[in-house]
Amino acid sequence: MVVLNNGIVSVTFSMVGHVTSLMYEGSTENLLESQNAEDDRGYWSVVWNKPEEKGGMERLQGTSYRVILQNPDQTEISFSTTWTVGSEKVPLNFDKRFVMLRGVPGFYTYTVLEKQKGWPAFDIQIARVVFKLDENKFHYMAMSDERKRFMPMEVDRKTGQVLEYKEAVLLTNPTNPQFKGEVDDKYLYSCDNKDNKVHGWVSTDLGLGVWMITPSIEFKTGGPLKQDLTSHVGPTMLSIFISPHYAGEDLALKFEEQEYWKKVLGPVFVYLNSDVSAKTNPSVLWDEAKQRMSKEVASWPYDFPFSNDFLNSSQRGAVSGQLLVHDSYINKQPVPAASAYIGLAPTEGPGSWQTESKGYQFWTQTDDSGNFLIKNVIPGTYSLFAWVRGTVGDYKHATDIIVASGSNIELHDAVFNAPRFGPTLWEIGIPDRTAAEFFIPDPVYKIHQYQNYTERFRQYGLWARYAESYPESDLLYTVGESDYKTDWFFAHVTRHGIHGLYHFYSIGIAGSRLVDGMNTIFLTQDVNLGPFREVMYDYIRLEGPAS
Ligand SMILES: *[C@@H]1O[C@H](CO)[C@@H](O)[C@H](O)[C@H]1NC(C)=O
Ligand SMILES: *[C@@H]1O[C@H](CO)[C@@H](O)[C@H](O)[C@H]1NC(C)=O
Repeated sequence: MVVLNNGIVSVTFSMVGHVTSLMYEGSTENLLESQNAEDDRGYWSVVWNKPEEKGGMERLQGTSYRVILQNPDQTEISFSTTWTVGSEKVPLNFDKRFVMLRGVPGFYTYTVLEKQKGWPAFDIQIARVVFKLDENKFHYMAMSDERKRFMPMEVDRKTGQVLEYKEAVLLTNPTNPQFKGEVDDKYLYSCDNKDNKVHGWVSTDLGLGVWMITPSIEFKTGGPLKQDLTSHVGPTMLSIFISPHYAGEDLALKFEEQEYWKKVLGPVFVYLNSDVSAKTNPSVLWDEAKQRMSKEVASWPYDFPFSNDFLNSSQRGAVSGQLLVHDSYINKQPVPAASAYIGLAPTEGPGSWQTESKGYQFWTQTDDSGNFLIKNVIPGTYSLFAWVRGTVGDYKHATDIIVASGSNIELHDAVFNAPRFGPTLWEIGIPDRTAAEFFIPDPVYKIHQYQNYTERFRQYGLWARYAESYPESDLLYTVGESDYKTDWFFAHVTRHGIHGLYHFYSIGIAGSRLVDGMNTIFLTQDVNLGPFREVMYDYIRLEGPAS
């Protein structure tokens, strides 16, 4: 047993480096679920498999414990393992680190993963750190200003009715009768990486909050639009670094035998706060946790992690410039791309950052004049990518960007020539990489009454509404008469999201295929792999011939 204690928070670890207890301000009450086995309270885990084989979940168990640093201001400990040839464990060396700082109510954790050349080929599907809080203490969860609520309990899922997939359970006899008729499903609490900076739980009995703060997404796969889980009934609190959620197999990490790979996941911050007023108004702790999150984001990259694999700010470089966009039938000259997402990711084709998983990504948004500054980039060779709201397609800078420690590269030639063949004849939707502007039907089951919540698409069973709405023949959209807000069903069926991976398709239509008068285009989804695999349209446009 190992204990880290700074007089505010006390964290106990098993000898393999699982977190077995979390205590706050001198209390001896464990905030983690003591009913669970010691390896099922706070742990790092991976889901992995050998190529073409079914895999499973493995909790990362350290075999070597070391105190890395111990002084009055900071303690850092390590639980590591070196893989040995022939072992049935995941073929990785790993080093799980936990850091506690003086006066800070919480602790940081990160893990360095390494695969050596010559070790077996394998895939990682999921990598995450998980905390399971005491079910009798934590009932209120918050993951955004809109999505915060008292939650059902794990037992309510056991007494409920499992729906079309096991994660979705209709609550038929919940502990809190107000929730009867709602569907509980952890995917209801997903969000994009760019928005997944703080989430967690409040105990109104104790006036205490426990939060997962993610100060950067540089170490997460798939860039800013990758969606993933946050917190959910358990009470469970996650940080997911790698997963196929909402995107599929393309997001798995696939390693060849001859491949060498190393990556630092984290640090993420487990933060505790308290306020007596939270006993009646739990969202005060959410508001305070958001402030703390901003402070953590501002101090990224942290200067305290002691691993040589985590680079501090002086070891990193920066890239700045101005992004212009040229959509030839809209503007004669390139114009500044305001509020565009722009980022560096390992070099591959346009849009490849969406499925990129082995390296690091560094993203920011341009200002109103299209100016950008990407700070704290780990040295390496990258491509510069961007997408611009209101414009279709993906930008990739023509040349690779080589970032060195302390470098500050200025780019004066970042011009996105948007795909365009001719003038717009008609369009459906808004090019913004979501289908949120289209028609979203009323939910099938009772929905939780959040205040101000507008994401109507995040409801169980909406896919069934399509067949109900169009029992005889498919949706017919008449250009010039129909309105996409009410007449364009938001998906060729869906599962609680509003986008997947973005693909851009241009299809040429020969003039000889058009007839005088009414023409019809059929959009058919013929990859029919079940109701939870689907296509959503971001935007459709018909262009005339180039003039
Ligand atoms: C960053 O790390 C380098 C190498 O360990 C060290 O020499 C330097 O002092 C560190 N800089 C800061 C700002 O912590
Ligand atoms: C709802 O949104 C409005 C407008 O943005 C805001 O003024 C109000 O405070 C919000 N209410 C809650 C409960 O968050």
